[in-house]
Amino acid sequence: MAGFRPVLAATVVALFWVCVLVGPCWAGDPFAYFDWDVSYLTVAPLGVKQQVIAINGEFPGPVMNVTTNWNLVVNVQNDLDEPLLITWDGIQHRKNSWQDGVLGTNCPIPSGWNWTYQFQVKDQIGSFFYFPSLNLQRAAGGYGGITVNNREVIAVPFGKPDGDITLFIGDWFNKNHTDLRKVLDNGKNLGMPDGVLINGKGPYRYNRTLVADGINYETVNVHPGKTYRIRVHNVGIFTSLNFRIQNHNLLLVETEGSYTVQQNYTNLDIHVGQSYSFLVMMDQNASTDYYIVASARFVNETRWKRVTGVAILHYSNSRGKASGPLPDPPNDFYDKTFSMNQARSITWNVSAGAARPNPQGSFKYGSINVTQVYVLKNKPPVIINGKQRTTLNGISYFPPQTPIRLADQYNLEGVYTLDFPTRPHQGPPKLGTSVINGTYRGFMEIIFQNNDTTVQTYHLDGYAFFVVGMDFGEWTENSRGTYNKWDGVARSTTQVFPGAWTAILVSLDNVGVWNLRTENLDTWYLGQEVYIKVVNPENTNKTELPLPDNALYCGRLKKYLREQTPHYKTKSSSSVISANDKLLGFMLLLPLSVIFL
Ligand SMILES: *[C@@H]1O[C@H](CO)[C@@H](O)[C@H](O)[C@H]1NC(C)=O
Ligand SMILES: *[C@@H]1O[C@H](CO)[C@@H](O)[C@H](O)[C@H]1NC(C)=O
Ligand SMILES: *[C@@H]1O[C@H](CO)[C@@H](O)[C@H](O)[C@H]1NC(C)=O
Ligand SMILES: *[C@@H]1O[C@H](CO)[C@@H](O)[C@H](O)[C@H]1NC(C)=O
Ligand SMILES: *[C@@H]1O[C@H](CO)[C@@H](O)[C@H](O)[C@H]1NC(C)=O
Ligand SMILES: *[C@@H]1O[C@H](CO)[C@@H](O)[C@H](O)[C@H]1NC(C)=O
Ligand SMILES: *[C@@H]1O[C@H](CO)[C@@H](O)[C@H](O)[C@H]1NC(C)=O
Ligand SMILES: *[C@@H]1O[C@H](CO)[C@@H](O)[C@H](O)[C@H]1NC(C)=O
Ligand SMILES: *[C@@H]1O[C@H](CO)[C@@H](O)[C@H](O)[C@H]1NC(C)=O
Ligand SMILES: *[C@@H]1O[C@H](CO)[C@@H](O)[C@H](O)[C@H]1NC(C)=O
Ligand SMILES: *[C@@H]1O[C@H](CO)[C@@H](O)[C@H](O)[C@H]1NC(C)=O
Ligand SMILES: *[C@@H]1O[C@H](CO)[C@@H](O)[C@H](O)[C@H]1NC(C)=O
Repeated sequence: MAGFRPVLAATVVALFWVCVLVGPCWAGDPFAYFDWDVSYLTVAPLGVKQQVIAINGEFPGPVMNVTTNWNLVVNVQNDLDEPLLITWDGIQHRKNSWQDGVLGTNCPIPSGWNWTYQFQVKDQIGSFFYFPSLNLQRAAGGYGGITVNNREVIAVPFGKPDGDITLFIGDWFNKNHTDLRKVLDNGKNLGMPDGVLINGKGPYRYNRTLVADGINYETVNVHPGKTYRIRVHNVGIFTSLNFRIQNHNLLLVETEGSYTVQQNYTNLDIHVGQSYSFLVMMDQNASTDYYIVASARFVNETRWKRVTGVAILHYSNSRGKASGPLPDPPNDFYDKTFSMNQARSITWNVSAGAARPNPQGSFKYGSINVTQVYVLKNKPPVIINGKQRTTLNGISYFPPQTPIRLADQYNLEGVYTLDFPTRPHQGPPKLGTSVINGTYRGFMEIIFQNNDTTVQTYHLDGYAFFVVGMDFGEWTENSRGTYNKWDGVARSTTQVFPGAWTAILVSLDNVGVWNLRTENLDTWYLGQEVYIKVVNPENTNKTELPLPDNALYCGRLKKYLREQTPHYKTKSSSSVISANDKLLGFMLLLPLSVIFL
């Protein structure tokens, strides 16, 4: 069960410091091996029993605590009753889209099979997370953290914290992922979530009307006077969340692999798919415990009160329980200007080193000439062929039976078209498997124009991009005058406010086929994604790793598939934790209290 992530992770992860001379091996870089069993677990985070997706029996899954340039080998056993792929959000998989774990590059792992991912966290540092990428499965869990530490030889731009804490926040439904799929398939929207989970647990009972008795909540144990690095990931379905810790400043230091200019926030909006690290000083007098809150943004807060995650920050010298009202959210209701200004205030520390000793800012993105421009516009869901779908530039992505990258490897024609429009498509929306033709070593400008009524966050696999601008209204060529060409932060997931645009710049130096998608699970499921294909025109095997030996095959290449006899490690879970099982809940909380002793 979800305990205190990093400590449990350490017991699950087996590390071996060897370099095996098979497959793509980077001499000298350590290997870390992970053995994962992905299966259902019956829990009741909000008091209603349901099957969630656990990894080695843990929900959320373990945090992978690794270091720049390590090679990760992750053997994934699919004990679900449906196909599975795990994707590694923000991990760049340099030269290696074969390991990206999305349908455009990988055939799914069939139920009862196992498959081993192998990739290097090359030239990266920072806080990321993994999750199951298919069919809304993330709405049932299956996520966990990826912490990539600096190598010893490279300075971190702040003192060593006294502890490292990972928090997963996200909206949650008591309906399971298969029922949620049906809602979308039937042309409805998902409606209001039933709550927000923090580390897989429901809210602390801060209000007896709003929170039922017996809900298991998360406790973070700390010592007075110490400073902790708290990594927060919004792993939810579609709700933007405001994160805050009562009476404590959040000193923002890192976002998705970039060290930021360090600034204090009393609260920060974290959109679906985004990751942030804060340094938090335990500088209060511990008259009581403190609330850790993640509450829904840009909604009618009277109606959405239930959609609030509440965990407890417990000082070892605390004199009592937290009580009274939660710390206030920003008081701006439907006005998104505050949130946009907050996002704009997050900048890159150009003088800090990161994965390499030279300053992050030595890549002067602002002086590179743009070679390709794409304006990608999404709209509210539309009906195509009688089905509810979402679009980008009028095209609703239709996944082919044969993954795009695999089709190229085998020179199959007709799997996709390389003709994604550079501007919003006029005319009726349509289904298509249309791919963006990225120029290798080109510098691409992408403008996301959100014509929907909710925040959409966009994520690009394989890359970090520079967020150079965002504003309300329609983007025009003149909008470029407002771009931040100096210290826009490099990250992999950016929010696009409704009725607004966000512009990013990306250097296409990573060969492969890369997914560009909304992280909002509902609109992603309905087709709001595309792929960018980046090919080195020179015929060399140096810029892309070979197809892995264990590749799975499907669609038109199914004949190459080496069959596995389905084998299940876990039967559909028997470990039931009911909301009212207080003794069990208490036992689960016990380990939390010993973490920092
Ligand atoms: C992660 O690993 C680093 C060393 O590689 C270690 O210093 C740190 O304590 C670990 N963090 C956690 C939370 O286990
Ligand atoms: C989801 O819940 C429905 C009942 O509402 C049930 O029939 C179905 O088996 C459940 N699916 C999973 C994966 O738990
Ligand atoms: C499945 O797991 C076994 C070990 O349990 C491993 O030897 C084998 O290579 C794995 N199969 C794949 C395709 O990764
Ligand atoms: C930026 O990084 C430098 C180099 O590590 C560090 O000394 C400085 O404090 C950082 N500045 C801010 C504002 O975060
Ligand atoms: C608990 O929440 C309800 C419903 O929002 C509200 O009416 C009530 O005042 C709250 N109780 C306390 C003690 O804050
Ligand atoms: C952030 O707030 C803490 C107090 O919580 C303070 O000690 C620190 O100086 C502040 N840092 C900055 C950069 O404002
Ligand atoms: C410290 O705790 C006392 C209650 O014991 C409270 O009255 C006081 O305001 C607190 N001080 C700070 C700085 O929080
Ligand atoms: C928010 O919801 C409440 C309760 O449904 C309603 O009374 C109120 O008018 C709504 N406020 C706005 C601004 O829509
Ligand atoms: C960018 O383009 C301008 C004008 O087309 C040209 O003068 C300049 O040399 C180019 N800069 C780079 C870095 O290629
Ligand atoms: C894709 O772009 C490359 C240049 O990067 C070009 O040579 C090729 O013709 C383009 N393909 C299509 C189908 O437009
Ligand atoms: C959507 O686009 C239409 C046409 O350009 C525009 O009138 C409308 O204001 C836009 N709505 C949003 C929320 O962006
Ligand atoms: C890469 O290509 C070179 C020459 O083109 C060849 O000698 C070498 O064996 C290839 N390496 C792999 C791993 O395919």
